Amino acid sequence: MRMPRGGRLLLATSAGSLFVLVLYFQSITKPELSLGSEEVPGKSRRSPLQTLYNGEQLELSEEQRSLQDRRELLEEACLSHTKKRRVLSPKDLKHLIVDDKHGLIYCYVPKVACTNWKRVLMVLGSGGRYTDPLAIPANEAHVAGKLRSLSDLSPAEINQRLRSYLKFIFVREPFERLVSAYRNKFTRSYNTAFHKRYGTKIVRRHRQNPSPEALEQGNDVSFREFVQYLVDPRTQRDEPFNEHWERVHSLCHPCLIHYDVVGKYETLETDAQAVLRLAGVEGTVRFPTSGKSTRTDGNMAARFFKHITPLYQRKLFNLYRMDFLLFNYSTPEYLRTR
Ligand SMILES: *[C@@H]1O[C@H](CO)[C@@H](O)[C@H](O)[C@H]1NC(C)=O
Repeated sequence: MRMPRGGRLLLATSAGSLFVLVLYFQSITKPELSLGSEEVPGKSRRSPLQTLYNGEQLELSEEQRSLQDRRELLEEACLSHTKKRRVLSPKDLKHLIVDDKHGLIYCYVPKVACTNWKRVLMVLGSGGRYTDPLAIPANEAHVAGKLRSLSDLSPAEINQRLRSYLKFIFVREPFERLVSAYRNKFTRSYNTAFHKRYGTKIVRRHRQNPSPEALEQGNDVSFREFVQYLVDPRTQRDEPFNEHWERVHSLCHPCLIHYDVVGKYETLETDAQAVLRLAGVEGTVRFPTSGKSTRTDGNMAARFFKHITPLYQRKLFNLYRMDFLLFNYSTPEYLRTR
């Protein structure tokens, strides 16, 4: 059954036996008015969602146009590539961070500037205690519970926010993101937790005649072994992928949750500014442009894929295919899939 364009169904299961059926209408022309939070008296502020879908405006700016094109592309891709409509429950929404004060929902994707987004949201929620996102240590930004997750709320509270808040997400070329995750988690000596938790398993399963040290430490996993681990059906049977290599499609449910802004890592600065402008906090907080370049040189992945056989390249592409399709990333030219 196909939903009418623009209509979405979110079905949330309550902890008890009742099914709570919630119809979640995305109304582009008439977003809900209430922000339900401390607004400055005498100064009526439009919510970010209203600012984005300003119905009166006939001419869209180039920026609005580009954001709209991405939304439409995502919607089309969802219609043509997803068959089954899944049912979401609150626990599927762990990655969605809520800012009630500004009417924002952000789905964080690791390896796509998510530390900086969390810092920015902490600044916004700190009531003036913080002003500089970079003053917040990275590890503090990731402490569970520092930011509110949509999954902590009741189905009714969730739906009210999904209807009236500006929902945004930041994505990145899937293989650039994957290689970035590999390099960060498996080639840095300090990431011992990942070496122990995943590295030892990868070495055990995917290396012939591993040395006792490698089995014990798991700190020298090659990209080829990592790829074998990802495409091995046992891996996802055992447990879900770690969030650093889990697909955006599974982390953020972009075909069930209508994201208003799809930002891209490749145009991080502009897109981040657009979100902050919509939220009306351009003057309050600046998105950190990190000293080290976040620009990908576009062929980091190509260098790593040289060592992967065509068969495994094809398997890996199938695994990440939805992320390529939904976010308009073309099949990499370096890929040898036959
Ligand atoms: C999708 O990608 C193509 C090729 O890179 C580009 O020309 C087009 O503008 C993109 N479309 C959207 C909606 O981003």
